[in-house]
Amino acid sequence: MVGEGRKPKGWFWWVVVTVIGVLVVAAAVLTILKDFHSKLKGHSHHGPVVQKYADALGIAMQFFDVQKSGKLVNSSISWRGDSGLTDGSKEGLDLSKGMYDAGDAMKFGFPMAFTATMLSWAILEYGDQMDAVKQLGHAQDSLRWITDYLINAHPSPNVLYIQVGDPDLDHKCWQRPESMTLQRPLTQVNTSFPGTEVAAETAAAMASACLVFKKIDFAYSSSLLMHAQQLFAFADTYQGSYSVAVPSVQRFYNSSGYGDELLWAASWLYLASADRSYLRYVTIDHGQELGNWRRPSWISWNDKLPGVQVLLSRVDFFGASEVPTAENLALQMYRETAEMMMCSLLPDSPTATPSRTESGLIWVTEWNSLLHPVASAFLAVLYSDYMLTSGTEALFCSGTSYRPGHLRDFAISQVDYVLGENPMKLSYLVGFGENYPRYVHHRGSSIPVDATTGCQDGFKWLNSSAPNPNVAVGALVGGPFQNETYSDSRNNSMQGEPSTYNSALIVGVLSGLVTTSLVAKSFP
Ligand SMILES: *[C@@H]1O[C@H](CO)[C@@H](O)[C@H](O)[C@H]1NC(C)=O
Ligand SMILES: *[C@@H]1O[C@H](CO)[C@@H](O)[C@H](O)[C@H]1NC(C)=O
Ligand SMILES: *[C@@H]1O[C@H](CO)[C@@H](O)[C@H](O)[C@H]1NC(C)=O
Ligand SMILES: *[C@@H]1O[C@H](CO)[C@@H](O)[C@H](O)[C@H]1NC(C)=O
Ligand SMILES: *[C@@H]1O[C@H](CO)[C@@H](O)[C@H](O)[C@H]1NC(C)=O
Ligand SMILES: *[C@@H]1O[C@H](CO)[C@@H](O)[C@H](O)[C@H]1NC(C)=O
Repeated sequence: MVGEGRKPKGWFWWVVVTVIGVLVVAAAVLTILKDFHSKLKGHSHHGPVVQKYADALGIAMQFFDVQKSGKLVNSSISWRGDSGLTDGSKEGLDLSKGMYDAGDAMKFGFPMAFTATMLSWAILEYGDQMDAVKQLGHAQDSLRWITDYLINAHPSPNVLYIQVGDPDLDHKCWQRPESMTLQRPLTQVNTSFPGTEVAAETAAAMASACLVFKKIDFAYSSSLLMHAQQLFAFADTYQGSYSVAVPSVQRFYNSSGYGDELLWAASWLYLASADRSYLRYVTIDHGQELGNWRRPSWISWNDKLPGVQVLLSRVDFFGASEVPTAENLALQMYRETAEMMMCSLLPDSPTATPSRTESGLIWVTEWNSLLHPVASAFLAVLYSDYMLTSGTEALFCSGTSYRPGHLRDFAISQVDYVLGENPMKLSYLVGFGENYPRYVHHRGSSIPVDATTGCQDGFKWLNSSAPNPNVAVGALVGGPFQNETYSDSRNNSMQGEPSTYNSALIVGVLSGLVTTSLVAKSFP
């Protein structure tokens, strides 16, 4: 009896415990599903903010303000003022906006457009995460400062102004942009002197920005799409390298080919317009010919193919069911190539690239060495999030499987190196932490605001042994040598010159790391 008397009691408690357990699990599952569902609907339900990356993002974003040309409105950079106000005026154009390229006062259209495309991409994927740390408006404003310029630089369908300033004259002076007295000649490409890569990159910038502004300013967004379509037609119809049409660009931003930019522009135009002819262009029409399938390369302002591979993988991950079979087969080739690239980035994969420093930083070129690790980290975090969002559990590298988290860890390793976890214990992001470069190769940063300098005598500020009087906050400098040393010296432009595209790239990867979140399956 005793046994029987206790039995119902034991049974009762067992049921209670089980029911509670089931309820707890069900609640957890429901929360996850709800979170996933609202994610898909575009509501942001991101994970906790990683303060270190939030701080770094807020700092990196400020370099766009450091680089602005034109009439500044509410500038947060106290030592910057209006400059370049009459750029383009002789030709009847307003080319006052846009951003200076690096430590000088040149506006180079090819890298400036690449900056805009990468910044658009970051906003499209991680706008909600930027918003979570109050950086979204800043990112949109910075992008628009460039696209306003690009629109004005495209006054008729087959003419694009690709440069403001003469680099030889400019580099003979050491002046703040605010006190520039030089001639500011314009350079264009047109039907007799075409520039396919610069026209196509500008089309990519405008098509991606069209998506960013779609819900914010529809008229502006539509205008960007129209310019992008015209520029792509110009680039594709009048094929020729701008390095041939305008040989003087070779010493600054030489292009090694334009097939990558044609694919890049057409991919963005497909996403911006949903026009299937652009999808056909990148797949059955030109994929085999221009795509370099199964031959991964390094992304840079010169080579957009890795960007194309990751962006078209996105289409394969999320939109493959709407794509016809022949096109889909080509998309899979892009994705396969992207996976080969991801496998080469993962440090312990069987196909890991040997292009690394001893502490694990991707290292490919001596000039601006941080371009490749930071750009690759951005692509890795994107790919990782495409895998997560699509429920793709594994990536196979010669038979070894890796999870999305491995790609994210790789991206984190590169970013942490940049932010100071390196043998020099130096943050390569100016303004972040206590120890960062003080002699950045940057005219405006190195000359006191109240100094009166002409063209030549300004060089005394290049020569000066004092640190820069104005902090170029947010500058991502060129970076370390392969032996992980860095010489903080103002005339060391190889290592110490920042650029606006470096900033767009670090902004991209930091936005992806600032909190954990799935990406939206479709752009706005
Ligand atoms: C600039 O700041 C002022 C004062 O805060 C504000 O009223 C104005 O709207 C701002 N202008 C722009 C373009 O942000
Ligand atoms: C076309 O571009 C070339 C190269 O920049 C330039 O020399 C030429 O003057 C331009 N043609 C016209 C009609 O402006
Ligand atoms: C520019 O690139 C082209 C094509 O790759 C090459 O032939 C040329 O030598 C390069 N020019 C310079 C100055 O490096
Ligand atoms: C800067 O230094 C160089 C070499 O050290 C010297 O030739 C030049 O005169 C200096 N320029 C100025 C403006 O001080
Ligand atoms: C590191 O590499 C640079 C560039 O190759 C070289 O100039 C420097 O002497 C090297 N430093 C050390 C400590 O090996
Ligand atoms: C700065 O470096 C350049 C080469 O990169 C050199 O021609 C120039 O003389 C250097 N200037 C000074 C002041 O050291």
